[in-house]
Amino acid sequence: MQINRCYLDLKDSYLFATIAKKVNAYQSANPNAKIIRLGIGDVTLPLCKEVITALHEAVEEMSVKETFRGYGPDDQGYPFLKDAIREYYVGHNVTLSNEEIFVSDGAKSDLGNILDIFSKDNVVLIPDPVYPVYVDTNVMDGRKVLFMDANEENGFLPLPDKKVKADLIYLCSPNNPTGAVYNRQQLKEWVDYANEQNAVILFDAAYECFIQDKTLPRSIYEIDGAKNCAIEFCSFSKMAGFTGTRCGYTVVPNELVRDGISLKNLWLRRQTTKFNGVAYIVQKGAAAVFTPEGQKQIKENLGYYMANARTIAAAMREMGIWFTGGEHSPYIWLKCPNNMKSWDFFDLLLEKANVVGTPGAGFGKNGEGFFRLTAFGDKQNTSEAVERIKKLLTSI
Ligand code: MLT
Repeated sequence: MQINRCYLDLKDSYLFATIAKKVNAYQSANPNAKIIRLGIGDVTLPLCKEVITALHEAVEEMSVKETFRGYGPDDQGYPFLKDAIREYYVGHNVTLSNEEIFVSDGAKSDLGNILDIFSKDNVVLIPDPVYPVYVDTNVMDGRKVLFMDANEENGFLPLPDKKVKADLIYLCSPNNPTGAVYNRQQLKEWVDYANEQNAVILFDAAYECFIQDKTLPRSIYEIDGAKNCAIEFCSFSKMAGFTGTRCGYTVVPNELVRDGISLKNLWLRRQTTKFNGVAYIVQKGAAAVFTPEGQKQIKENLGYYMANARTIAAAMREMGIWFTGGEHSPYIWLKCPNNMKSWDFFDLLLEKANVVGTPGAGFGKNGEGFFRLTAFGDKQNTSEAVERIKKLLTSI
């Protein structure tokens, strides 16, 4: 018996697990501290009414023999949900067919699982800083990872370097953790680079619903040539508050072929073998997100979070702290004051303001000296956190 020794190359624990452990230890030692958590990007508003109604109806259907459902369709998603997703993409001027859409329990699982269809010999190109799942899942497989620098100079939006050869390229826009967003021209550069290199882009669009400017791309398939080189991952987590309900989807276009083999067929083979699909009840809830009323209700929730983002951003401006994000993204990525290191700033905020954020260093070496705050908190708590941060930073 041999274990997968690649796991030994990982950090001891996943970033957000490490933070939770630290915060829980602080709370146990300081039971009266009123901690405000703006760390992990977890939503705080309940599911919208339209979704709740659909969930209740689906539960009722499951209680009646005639409408009860067992396993879902083999092709990974009920047609009612795939139709709704397909229509949503039409709104972005993207035409998909249902067979290209794979419903799943979320983007995180799919981003990790997709690696099953790629050789471990592939070279992977990942921006730094980045959502830790991309790096950790490749380390688990022992794949060679190259990093591209995202930094203040390039606005945390690295562009392709033709000298670098890679097989798999991760892009996330709007970006987690930096909140930076690629425009069409920049994404076109990536698409052209990937097609020239015969590489595949793994495009994380989990935060597309936060884009406010209609000229910015919400799907990579809005870019010419992307269907030949990109897989897109999306999620209901941030869009509709499904972090605990679990539903997402991945798009693998028919045009995406490598070594003469359809990646869509490989992914279908992988999913039908290892995954029995998302609960009917949850898929009904997800489909309700796309009804006109559902869209109206989730937009109200997204607006609530974006107002929090504006509150945080305004405070950063007031204090003269450099930041990105917050405009088309629920994340504010700020430069730690007084050249502090990320984890030192984390400790300072936790101990002196009882506010939790995410240290930028947890997202990669270029994240050192930066810090992420999320706008997914409660409105009052967010305002209070901002006041506490202002008070603390003006006193040091
Ligand atoms: C984050 O805080 O980066 C996200 O909540 C993590 C995730 O979506 O898995």
